[in-house]
Amino acid sequence: MRRARIIGMGAYAPKRILTNADLEKMIETSDAWIVQRSGIRERRVADESEATSDLALRAAQQALERANLVPEDIEFIAVGTTTPDMFFPTVGNIVQHRLGCGRAGSVDMLAACAGSVYSLAFGSQLIQTGKYRRVLCIGAETLSKITDFTDRGTCVLLADAAGAAVLEAYDGDRGIIDFDLYSDGQYWDLLYMPGGGSRHPATRETVDARMHYAKMKGSEVFKVAVRMFVDCTGRILERNGFTADDVRLFIPHQANLRIIEAAAKRVSLPMERVFVNVDRYGNTGAASVYVALEEAVAAGRITRGDLVLLAAFGGGFAWGSVLIRW
Ligand code: UT7
Repeated sequence: MRRARIIGMGAYAPKRILTNADLEKMIETSDAWIVQRSGIRERRVADESEATSDLALRAAQQALERANLVPEDIEFIAVGTTTPDMFFPTVGNIVQHRLGCGRAGSVDMLAACAGSVYSLAFGSQLIQTGKYRRVLCIGAETLSKITDFTDRGTCVLLADAAGAAVLEAYDGDRGIIDFDLYSDGQYWDLLYMPGGGSRHPATRETVDARMHYAKMKGSEVFKVAVRMFVDCTGRILERNGFTADDVRLFIPHQANLRIIEAAAKRVSLPMERVFVNVDRYGNTGAASVYVALEEAVAAGRITRGDLVLLAAFGGGFAWGSVLIRW
């Protein structure tokens, strides 16, 4: 059976570190509150010269090197992002040109923080159908650019990073086994950015009303997020004849340690088999699962033959999971 297998991973985060102590100087908050409510200790923030494609490019270059491929080998690029450099062209287009991927097709997928599993699932299907042999999947964000640093409910959480995975066609048991992707638009106003689109194009008024920043109803997002994690992880395992005991490592979207712990508990996964790096990166949106997977592989927490479960949720709401035999 033809599957898409990950043959190289890369990750990149901006050099600038914003600690909780730094935030204490900017807004009414405390290190204790942030750590207790979210598990986050520090996060990376792009500088003014860095856009999402700059981060994506670095992660993609590392993934290609590790896959032992040259850019011309890539036939398609699928990017998950909520913060493209500009409305269009896409981050995928910019990366395709700057990386030198011949005339590879490219697309950006906007599924907020679920953009990681959406782009990975999409890329895997381009291979599984037999259309392409090598696809580059990327999750990249500069969420700091749409963060209101006077809103303590969001600015302590959101951050910047990119991760990438090179997928290659493989005939055998290893690779991406299955995925589930869902959305439910009734929750749109729990997490969204009102300004800049066709509903409220940019005007002086939208800028003055701070409409070009992400708005979030945090505690409501929290409850729905736990439910969605449980829903999409349980279903994909059951359909493929597995239980939580079979999962070597669960890599959830890194939004909040308490959400991760609550979801892991409900699906009966001990925290030793759950990957966490939210303490060092905060919530990096569509990048988070890629960055976490890259770190887990580099740390030797995943080895050949392991069953790995990825899951993410985000604004929209959009959520989903990907099951991999490593
Ligand atoms: O990718 C998806 C993205 N989003 C998420 O995953 C977010 C999910 N939600 C969360 O992570 C949590 O809801 C938060 C971390 C955002 C907030 O934690 P919470 O335990 O749900 O707190 P809360 O919103 O219920 O607020 C409790 C109190 C409020 O004060 P009052 O009204 O009780 O006086 C807030 O004003 O905490 C206050 N607060 C803060 N205090 C210090 C909110 N943000 C802060 C802050 N520092 N940064």
